[in-house]
Amino acid sequence: MIRFFENYNLKPHNTFGVKVKARYFFEFTEPDDLDIFIQANEGYKDLPLLLIGSGSNILFLQDFSGLVIHPNVPGIIKVKEDRSHVWLEVGAGETWDDFVGYCVENILGGVENLSLIPGKVGAAPVQNIGAYGQEVSQSVESVKGYDLQKKVQVEYHAEDCAFGYRNSLFKTKLKNRFVITSVVFKLDKFPEFNLEYGYLKEKVREAGEVSLQQIRKTIIAIRSAKLPDVSTLGNAGSFFKNPSVSPEEAERMKQIYADIPIYPVNSKSVKLAAGWLIEKAGLKGYREGQVGVHEKQALVLVNYGDASGKEIFDFSEKIRQTVLERFNIELEREVNCI
Ligand code: EPU
Repeated sequence: MIRFFENYNLKPHNTFGVKVKARYFFEFTEPDDLDIFIQANEGYKDLPLLLIGSGSNILFLQDFSGLVIHPNVPGIIKVKEDRSHVWLEVGAGETWDDFVGYCVENILGGVENLSLIPGKVGAAPVQNIGAYGQEVSQSVESVKGYDLQKKVQVEYHAEDCAFGYRNSLFKTKLKNRFVITSVVFKLDKFPEFNLEYGYLKEKVREAGEVSLQQIRKTIIAIRSAKLPDVSTLGNAGSFFKNPSVSPEEAERMKQIYADIPIYPVNSKSVKLAAGWLIEKAGLKGYREGQVGVHEKQALVLVNYGDASGKEIFDFSEKIRQTVLERFNIELEREVNCI
């Protein structure tokens, strides 16, 4: 099925709830429909393109004057199974958390720590979603989609996806050129639980026997307590990335702030918690008009009402500036600004 609109309202398609319009909007449920549309509509090739899933990582600064492509491919299909693993091909349009729920119910491990992350399955590999010590790249076998330049369907194996912290090939070299239509996941039938992240082990154990269900329940409880629900308060999850600094820089910070959270990455870099830096700069809960820093998790910026994308962006620049002045650390946006 396809749907095509002109001057289409994107408010329901961005979780910040910003009111903007797309010149053209195309939605499809079958990969072949996209191929037919692109082959038949040469005229669109010179327009700016934008791919959106559920718009949970996007901030629109103005109307979009080009073509928005919205893949809405449904389905979860078992493609292969052996003694220890099951491979599932999941349509880009499936809701991410429904897929996590499906895996947990069927005792398939690998994505349980990613419970309650908003968004669609097709968007998950783009920014390599991650939480509580797990990244989606660890469970991705391959990513299938359509190359708008070559006009062919292509499958990328995980090792060719250039996955990194909140990064991938689809965000860099193939940005707005490759439309993900489905993702193949390799899941564990005998999962090893991943409880190494901070307070997670403690929280899961407090709740009882460790199981996939228990981990999912605990993570849902942690996230619901800290992160605002996009259906009631516009936001796009973490607005900034956690910054990488040298171990020497982290040590300098530790001398001044003994309680600073530091996450080792490799011998050359460590990560600091951007939420902690923003809070320490005195900005947690800070609000200007319709925009603010969330009261419970400072890494999240929220739209309290009808803020425009520009207002949210300008506000975020102030936060960046304040953190820079206070700690000499530059925050990088995690949200995609259009
Ligand atoms: N912290 C504060 N104040 C705050 C927020 C955090 O002091 O307002 C401190 C916490 O106390 C903790 C540390 O910072 O010591 C880390 O906090 P948290 O566990 O909440 O995680 P985060 O680093 O702030 C990252 C991801 C989240 C993910 C969590 C859990 C990024 C940019 N964000 O946040 O992902 O859910 O870890 O793994 O890496 C997202 O990307 O949208 C997102 C929500």
